[in-house]
Amino acid sequence: MCAADNAEQKPVKRWTFKVELRCEQPDALADLLIRSEFAEGAQVIDDATNGPSIDGDSQVAASLDCGVVTYVERPRPDAELELRAQLDELQEASTELEWSVQTVERFDDTSWKTRWKEFFEIVEVSDRVTVGPPWESFDASGGEVTLVLNPGMAFGVGTHETTRLACQLLDRHLADASAPSVLDVGCGTGLLAMAAARLGADPVLGLDIDEDALSSARSNLEANGLERDVTLASTPIGDVPDTFDIVVANILWPTLVDLKDELLNHVEPGGRLILSGIQLEHLDEFEGVFIPADWTVSERLTEGEWAALTIVPDARR
Ligand SMILES: C[S@@+](CC[C@H](N)C(=O)[O-])C[C@H]1O[C@@H](n2cnc3c(N)ncnc32)[C@H](O)[C@@H]1O
Repeated sequence: MCAADNAEQKPVKRWTFKVELRCEQPDALADLLIRSEFAEGAQVIDDATNGPSIDGDSQVAASLDCGVVTYVERPRPDAELELRAQLDELQEASTELEWSVQTVERFDDTSWKTRWKEFFEIVEVSDRVTVGPPWESFDASGGEVTLVLNPGMAFGVGTHETTRLACQLLDRHLADASAPSVLDVGCGTGLLAMAAARLGADPVLGLDIDEDALSSARSNLEANGLERDVTLASTPIGDVPDTFDIVVANILWPTLVDLKDELLNHVEPGGRLILSGIQLEHLDEFEGVFIPADWTVSERLTEGEWAALTIVPDARR
């Protein structure tokens, strides 16, 4: 073996950087960073998250009010130059998304990796559905379905009460039915549609009006090998010709009210509609304006300040 061979086998030292990127569409940027393999995780900072603490006791990025924070390792030498060149290339390639580099700084705390990953925990979204980040190998601990979800997404990784409530109701109904058809209106990252497919629903259609959401849902379908089991579309619900055994919608309640007729009309006779995204304080008002006289609330589930309902058409309808 020659000296050059020996030199090649030396482990390359790596430096860690904390990178803060300013962007008005942080979800889309996080998705881009992960899909392009620039980073394996990205924390979205926006009004809703406002920087959960993964960096010691401080906020992730006090200097950033809207954007993305990520930690990356790059081999020395020229680590920072290489990193900045990659960011430039990404920026040139992503002309549809406006973002800028706020800070790139060496980060010498070697515990960052563990703490970063601890933050994206494995979540039991319902009795049979467990969700975790790509780097974890995890069992469904008594559950039957595991899904890998990109942690770049702020919403729809199973940590929000409204997602868990909707998934819990979906899980129950899928346990009682044999291969029902499912429509997920406002599918976001695709969690509910993927869970439905894994729990036996067929066919499954996920709709969203947000192209960024659909793009992250597509990546998630791929990551879970479900491309053939779930169809995604930006078609407005009113233009979907079919009816479904189960329609699920986790969208803020005023939008549910706007979509009332379309949601009700897409439920197959004998089917059910799962509605989540209703603040408890508005539940009575919501039920008053949404539930038709010939439909019944068959279940109410609450968590924290949120409620979800299953409603079914009366048999005589
Ligand atoms: C609260 S997120 C729910 C995401 C996911 N279903 C979950 O449960 O975690 C609501 C989603 O509904 C989408 N949305 C809002 N209005 C919509 C509409 N009229 N039709 C379809 N999707 C809509 C939003 O783009 C967003 O992705």
